[in-house]
Amino acid sequence: MSEALVDVEERPDELTFPAALPVLPLKETVVFPESVTPLAIGQERSIKLVEDVVSGDRVLALVTVRDPGVEQPGWDDLYDVGTAAVIHKMIKVPDGTLRILVQGTQRIQLDQRIQADPYLVGEFLELPDKLEETPEVEALTRNVQNLFGRVIGLVPYLPEELQLAASNVEDPSALCNLVASTLRLKTEEKQRLLELTDVATRLRGVSAILNRELEVLELGSKIQSQVQEEMEKGQREFFLRQQLKAIQDELGEGDADQAEINELRSRLDELDLPEDVRKAAERELGRLEKLPSAAAEYGVIRTYLDWLVSLPWNKTTEDNLDLEHARHILDEDHFDLEKVKDRILEHLAVSKLKNDLSGQILCFVGPPGVGKTSLGQSIARALGRKFARLSVGGVRDEAEIRGHRRTYIGAMPGTIIRTIRDAESMNPVLLIDEIDKMGTDFRGDPASAMLEVLDPEQNKTFRDHYLDLPFDLSKVLFICTANTLDTIPSPLLDRMDVIQLSGYTEDEKFGIAKRYLLPKQLEAHGLDPDRLKVTDNAIRLIIREYTRESGVRSLERRLADVLRKAARQIAEGKTRATMVRIDDRRVRSGLGPRRFEGEVRKRTAEPGVATGLAFTAAGGDVLFFEATAYPGKGRLTITGQLGEVMQESAQAALSWVRAHAEQLGVDPAWFQEHDVHLHVPAGAVPKDGPSAGITMAVAIASLVRNQPVAEDVGMTGEITLTGLVLPIGGIREKALAAQRAGLKRVILPRDNEPDLKELPAETKRELEFIPVDSIEDVLAAAFDGAPRREKRQANLKVASSRSQARVSPSRS
Ligand SMILES: Nc1ncnc2c1ncn2[C@@H]1O[C@H](COP(=O)(O)OP(=O)(O)OP(=O)(O)O)[C@@H](O)[C@H]1O
Ligand SMILES: [Mg+2]
Repeated sequence: MSEALVDVEERPDELTFPAALPVLPLKETVVFPESVTPLAIGQERSIKLVEDVVSGDRVLALVTVRDPGVEQPGWDDLYDVGTAAVIHKMIKVPDGTLRILVQGTQRIQLDQRIQADPYLVGEFLELPDKLEETPEVEALTRNVQNLFGRVIGLVPYLPEELQLAASNVEDPSALCNLVASTLRLKTEEKQRLLELTDVATRLRGVSAILNRELEVLELGSKIQSQVQEEMEKGQREFFLRQQLKAIQDELGEGDADQAEINELRSRLDELDLPEDVRKAAERELGRLEKLPSAAAEYGVIRTYLDWLVSLPWNKTTEDNLDLEHARHILDEDHFDLEKVKDRILEHLAVSKLKNDLSGQILCFVGPPGVGKTSLGQSIARALGRKFARLSVGGVRDEAEIRGHRRTYIGAMPGTIIRTIRDAESMNPVLLIDEIDKMGTDFRGDPASAMLEVLDPEQNKTFRDHYLDLPFDLSKVLFICTANTLDTIPSPLLDRMDVIQLSGYTEDEKFGIAKRYLLPKQLEAHGLDPDRLKVTDNAIRLIIREYTRESGVRSLERRLADVLRKAARQIAEGKTRATMVRIDDRRVRSGLGPRRFEGEVRKRTAEPGVATGLAFTAAGGDVLFFEATAYPGKGRLTITGQLGEVMQESAQAALSWVRAHAEQLGVDPAWFQEHDVHLHVPAGAVPKDGPSAGITMAVAIASLVRNQPVAEDVGMTGEITLTGLVLPIGGIREKALAAQRAGLKRVILPRDNEPDLKELPAETKRELEFIPVDSIEDVLAAAFDGAPRREKRQANLKVASSRSQARVSPSRS
């Protein structure tokens, strides 16, 4: 600092108060007695004044100007009351102005104007305080001390030490001066305080000002803290993020968001993306970069990009079209199924010639557990393709297949895209399970989405709602599976190459169990095939008594049950033998009482029950048709979830029996006095189709004749009102069902005789087939071998119980 410091000597203790004092006009400030105040002096005449004073007794009068706008204030511009003061220090600033430090000594009042040039000089009177030491003054003093303390705490420009100083000032007048000189008050307000001679009044004035200030300050700080709270909430996160960023920078980890974006970018660069996909990805990445990671949109785009990079764009596997190899794999995985395997190989051969596997969709149709899914897996293995499976059973929502648009919260691609991602290849074998069980409702038709997926014309540019980019499905080899063709929408069916799989005979099941299921299960249970043998009889016992199905799924499960028990015994050390044999006895003790035993015999023990053969989505099955009667007027009630066609067959059956009552040995009047109730139990399975006509006729005939139907016979066939028997379908499955149920004879329409050639030799050997032309033939066979009960009505004629139908000699 280049300021010249002129040190002024200590002023004398006794201030001599000269009659004439030079007057320094003050603008916008008031100096109080005892207070030390710095002042800047710029006006030429004031500089002269200060210089004169400093070289003299250093005492001057400080009087405030009424209107700070006046350039050169004269006597009339000044208040009357001011403060006598001593100049303690003077500093000359290089620009020619002065800084002085003054200390007020006492209040003074102008008495006489002496001179106006070169500066004002006047005669002043001392203005002493008027102070009475009353309790009121005492109380006011403490109040001011207290208020001032609080104000200091709230005002940022006042130092905390002032609080201590204020509490030490006992003199009321000095206290007022301290408060008045330190607070930022309006000049007029300060001047008014200065002019108050009565100390009590001055204290009141000061405390009023302090109270007002305090109110304003407290309100202010309340507002401040509210605002701060609001701001803090919003800014807290921002600050934390900034800090996090700083920490990461410090650790050399860089910007996490940027790192994430960089990683995404490098992953995208590594991928061989189709052009339009790359463009879309770049666009999204650009948007991502501009967003703060806390934005909701950020997460949405991030997830989308994750999906894009996780898909196997342009990634394919090399096909192995060696038919020998394929044949080998199919044989390795599946027993027999010769025709099916041939069909598959033909399909592959055609593809090989066309050098294109796409555009052809295989559809395996058959009962559960016959190997549809596992054939699909084998095909993938044979071709060296990835295998992926998705089930569309119960899917009602189109969005499940095609995904939701990205604007929905939690949106995802549909199951097709998800499955392709899991397959990690653009040309997997994609098995679509249960295509016959797809539903439709208000959310759209999933079948139409499937149509687009499966249509070679359209699936090159399949559009998933979420991806919103064309996706090439044309290299995928689609294989569908279904239990029945009836419920597959025909536009879908048109595109498929259908391969039928039928149920297995007992021998086939035995072969599958021995050669495939057992080794598979032994391995799954960690059992050594050399140390554990399951006898052939045991396997057959499981098939015959513990399962009743078209496929081999329960068989596999029962085998697993048996092996699990054996595994436990071996593990617990309960058997010390080097070779464990599982025979009939062990199967029985392991699996408990047989599950399916003599059901037909039990059910048909009473008159009015006939055993029908049905062909359902689950394969062939036996169904029991029950007829009962009660007093009424010849009406027919039908229950058991029978469809319209079946209800009509029931009517036809009843009509025929009624029309031929006499021939059956029944009084025709019986029908006028009875209502007939026909029921087909078997759970809640809806049943329909015409093939139960003869079974219902037999049930009603059995009822009215009061003669049970033979326990070893099952039947199927449509009936006309004239009593003719018409052909039906599903002979193979029905025959297998009859065999499984332990029946010995099957009554079937003569027109179905050619179908018998197709049956497995084993089935033909075990079952006797009775082709029939008319209902009379049916009745003859159905009651053949059945015990005749006592006649319902004494005068009924006995109808012939034998006919020309073939009946095996063992049964007479
Ligand atoms: N011919 C066969 N040879 C060997 N194993 C077979 C054969 N048929 C079925 N299996 C086995 O039976 C089990 C059930 O077969 P799979 O799951 O393929 O039945 P599915 O026809 O798909 O039935 P669903 O209609 O219930 O889906 C599998 O373990 C499969 O390997
Ligand atoms: Mg399956």
